[in-house]
Amino acid sequence: MLLEQILPNCALHSHRVAGDERGSLISLQSGFEIPFEFKRVYLVYGTRPGVERGFHAHKSLEQWVVCVSGSCVFTVDDGNDRREVLLDSPEKGLQIGSGIWREMRDFTPDAVLMVVASTHYELDDYIRSYDEFLSFVRSS
Ligand code: TYD
Repeated sequence: MLLEQILPNCALHSHRVAGDERGSLISLQSGFEIPFEFKRVYLVYGTRPGVERGFHAHKSLEQWVVCVSGSCVFTVDDGNDRREVLLDSPEKGLQIGSGIWREMRDFTPDAVLMVVASTHYELDDYIRSYDEFLSFVRSS
């Protein structure tokens, strides 16, 4: 369910929790809860204190980010607006479309980020310079 449209191409969703007396389960299916086909899942964990990650955008990749343990703060920027999102629950999913600059910081020691990605790892899809990112979004 949509919780908040953060930017036109970036949204925070709440996951449906299948909970019972034993605990909780969240299922994320391609084409259902996650509205794109995905080819890759990666985990970011053991992030050292004070570390900031990201600082890039993608030309076409779409992602669905879940902080399955602990918390961290995402900054998302589409070249017009810059917003901060706290990911602090496995029940939240941050959908990041293409053409969004992202930065991650304030990882708690127990933070585990799970990133579901629409494509395999493709270096050519990365934009690592903020100036190049602005040119990319202004020309698209
Ligand atoms: P990096 O892109 O620097 O991570 P972030 O943008 O989250 O700060 O990736 C860290 C390392 O992991 C780098 O050596 C590339 C590698 N990597 C893969 O091998 N496969 C992947 O899918 C990703 C996202 C990164």
